[in-house]
Amino acid sequence: MRVLVSGGAGYIGSHTVLKLIASGHDVVVVDDFSNSKPTVVGRLESLSGTHVPVHSFDLTDVDKTERLFAHEQIDAVVHFAGLKAVGESVTKPIEYYRNNIDSTLSLLAAMQRHGVHRLVFSSSATVYGENAPVPYSEDYEHLSSSSPYGQTKVMIERIMTDVAAASDGLRVALLRYFNPVGAHPSGQIGEDPQGIPNNLMPFIAQVAVGRREKLTVFGDDYPTADGTCERDYLHVEDLAAGHVAALEHLDDMVTPVRAFNLGTGTGTSVLAMLKAFERAVGRELPYEVGPRRAGDLAAFWADPSRANDELGWRAVKTIDDMCADTWRWQSANPQGFPDA
Ligand code: UFG
Repeated sequence: MRVLVSGGAGYIGSHTVLKLIASGHDVVVVDDFSNSKPTVVGRLESLSGTHVPVHSFDLTDVDKTERLFAHEQIDAVVHFAGLKAVGESVTKPIEYYRNNIDSTLSLLAAMQRHGVHRLVFSSSATVYGENAPVPYSEDYEHLSSSSPYGQTKVMIERIMTDVAAASDGLRVALLRYFNPVGAHPSGQIGEDPQGIPNNLMPFIAQVAVGRREKLTVFGDDYPTADGTCERDYLHVEDLAAGHVAALEHLDDMVTPVRAFNLGTGTGTSVLAMLKAFERAVGRELPYEVGPRRAGDLAAFWADPSRANDELGWRAVKTIDDMCADTWRWQSANPQGFPDA
């Protein structure tokens, strides 16, 4: 298939581009580089040995999106592009709703006009909200999220469901990610957050490489084994493989729109993650315990059985793999991707 990857220069997008090419697909990337560096593209080309065509614009631009579909022969879309910082979305809700919703509508309209009816969407476990029983199951129906970012994921899932119901043949896989971490085993591509990292793994990695003084653990008085929050971390390579599996399964899905949890099914605490990273680096890393972060849930993980059974997909990499690969990337690229 010739696959349009929106946000293909980003963290999960770039790893998925490589997996798609390795599986024999042609890839076209659209990315506005608002939260990624153009230099990632050269690395994708050298790792894959393939030219990766890139269209650099913001998908909220309806005319440019239309022109892209008019000029490129597209068989399927994997839609990653969007704003994704939970905390920032609380202070800039208009920006988040406008960007994430408008870009999706623009994409869906162009797909409809050009008869493209295969879509894989980058959703999140955040759609399960605060009250879903753990492990999270796709059958849970009361989707909601406490942040505007998360609400855009809930809304986009709904929009895609409604558009598919009204369409002639649109098939959509909604992939609900748990906590993606790790990097390509080459150490050439990885997560490169701009500014202070919001997420645990890139923060630990920047402490290890000397860019940050110490990790602050956000609360150790949760009702968990060691008092710190537990999450279902999965390797970005496994996650990327999940996109290829979902794409190739679209035509066989039991319903035209289907949600799939992509996680391991196991929770790991903040302190256990720090210890695993220390093993990868080979030394202790400085940390302090601070107050809880607003909005954090104590513990959640996936029931991944639907993706296991229906997509034939399973997360196979361990926490130690995730830390070793993150460290290889971070130590080889202390400042992330170069500007040019
Ligand atoms: N944490 C720290 N210190 C830090 C950063 C994080 O202790 O400096 C802790 C958090 O409190 C949390 C855990 O590490 O307990 C994981 O935090 P992340 O920010 O890495 O991940 P979250 O589970 O909070 O967020 C992820 C995704 C979001 C998604 C959310 C809910 O990044 O996109 O899961 O599904 F919305």
